Formats: sequence, structure tokens, C-alpha cells
Amino acid sequence: MGSNPTPSARVRVVGELIGVHLEKPEKREENSLQSIRRRALATGVFSSSRAAIKERTLRTDRWWLQPAITFGVLIAFIIYATFRAFEKKYYFTEPLISPFYSPCLSTACLDGSAHFGTPIGTISLFGMVISPALFILIFPLGFRLTCYYYRKAYYRSFWMSPPACAVAEPHKKYTGETRAPLILQNGHRWFFYFGLIFNVILTYDAIIAFKNPEGEWGHMSVGTLILLLNAAMLWLYSASCHTCRHTIGGRLRNFSKHPLRYKMWTWVSALNERHPVYAWISLIVVALTDFYVRLVASGSITNYYFF
Ligand code: FES
Repeated sequence: MGSNPTPSARVRVVGELIGVHLEKPEKREENSLQSIRRRALATGVFSSSRAAIKERTLRTDRWWLQPAITFGVLIAFIIYATFRAFEKKYYFTEPLISPFYSPCLSTACLDGSAHFGTPIGTISLFGMVISPALFILIFPLGFRLTCYYYRKAYYRSFWMSPPACAVAEPHKKYTGETRAPLILQNGHRWFFYFGLIFNVILTYDAIIAFKNPEGEWGHMSVGTLILLLNAAMLWLYSASCHTCRHTIGGRLRNFSKHPLRYKMWTWVSALNERHPVYAWISLIVVALTDFYVRLVASGSITNYYFF
């Protein structure tokens, strides 16, 4: 009959079982029963099944560059878009309208910019009329915020969860997208459907841009090309979306009975491979389109007409 192991022997055995090894005898105290228990309960890189490496990463390349660039570009876009959403002017000049304000649906819209009526009327908060942009930006913003690609990009650059492959995150816990608020990311498919409506409206805006400032059809300006480019990039961004791919080719038992959907699925899959590229280009083009409309509407430049 063997004797009961001492508490320190128990600590050592438990430590070995969950992969915690002491490097030097003097660090033995750190591996108290409490710290082992804490490690066994922790998740992510601190969990018991992960190697106990004290360095944050063993990578020697510039792994921080990509998340740093992502952070910089997204912050710049957020600051610019917020400024423009609250500026409430210079977003429309015949026949150009900024994508940040389209569709313009409130009575606070500039004259001629409410192409689809003013069903929202005027809503004020603390005596201030709410910008027409704020009523609609939730849809394109929600579409991008819940995008699978952007999620990866901003989880890495803003949350550092993790900042890069093989670089430990600073968080002690990892709960993924299983609880509020991140569980709301599952709403991406609904934002995708709303995004399609916006694409149709912004394509309509680009077609309207074939008018001249007097409202006559059959003209084309630099603004026309910019609005066309913006609409085209938004369609590419939506068509390459993972939800679009699933909507077209998902939930099928076999493709052989659905040759048309299979064909479309192969096209969308080809676009899907380049989704991150379309995500960045369309984001930058949206901002540049707004900036161009602002320059023209404020009188800083003239919208050059080819014919
Ligand atoms: S996954 Fe990016 S828009 Fe849907």
C-alpha cells in the first residue's frame, strides 16, 4: 500500500499533465497549485494545451506592418466619414450626389437631392436637425462592419486578437463570436441584402450623372465616371461576398441537379478569392467619390464635361 503524495508532489504531477514545465528550480514557486489551476481554466494562448512560451512571438519579420496599415486606413476612413456625415452640406450638386448621402430621405436634404422622396421628414435631437446621412449610413456601415474579411482585419489591427499568425494576443480569454455583442456579426446576411438595395440606388445615381446641370440627358463628365466606378466597385464587393457565394451555391445536396446555380457559384467563387482586394478598393473609392462631389459642390473645382 503506497503513501499519499505530498502537496508539492501533486503540484508537480498536475503541472506535467497539463504541460507546464519549470525551467529553473528557483521558479518552482511560481508554479503553485493556484497558478496551475488558473492556467487550466484559461483559454486562448494561455490554455493548458498550448506550449508555455514566454515570448509573445518568435517571428522576426515585420508582422506588425499589415495590422498597422489596416489600423491607419480604417481610422482615417472613420474620421473622414464621421466628419462628412455631420457636415450636412456639399454633398449634392446637379447631377452628382455623394454616396454618403444617397438615398437622401429627409426634408433636411439639399434642394433636388431627395430622388426618392422624403419619407423620414425632419427629426431633431436637442434642437439640432439630424443629418440625412445618419439615417442611411447604418446599412453600408453594418455591411462592412460584419463583413467576414473586415472582421479578420479589424480583429487583428484593433483588438489584436491575435495581431498576426503566431503572435500571442494580449487577451486572457477567447470567446469568439458566441456572445453579445459579437454574436450580432451573424446578421451579415441581412446587411448583404440591404447592401444590394444600396447598390441599385448608387447605380441609379451614376446613370443620373449622364445629365448635365440643366437636367438634359446625353452628357458625360468626370463625375459620371467616378460615380460609375464607385457603383462598379460596390457591385464587385457585394458579388464577391461570402454570403453571396453561399446564397447562390449553398444548401445544395449536389450541383449536378442545379447546373445554372453551379455555374454562377463558380463565377462568384472566382470573385470571392479577391474579396479583400475589392473590399479595400471599394472603401477607398467611396471616400474619393464623396470627396470629389464635395470639391465640386463647394465650388473648389469644376466638374469637367467631355460632351
Ligand atoms: S464577406 Fe465581406 S461583404 Fe460579405
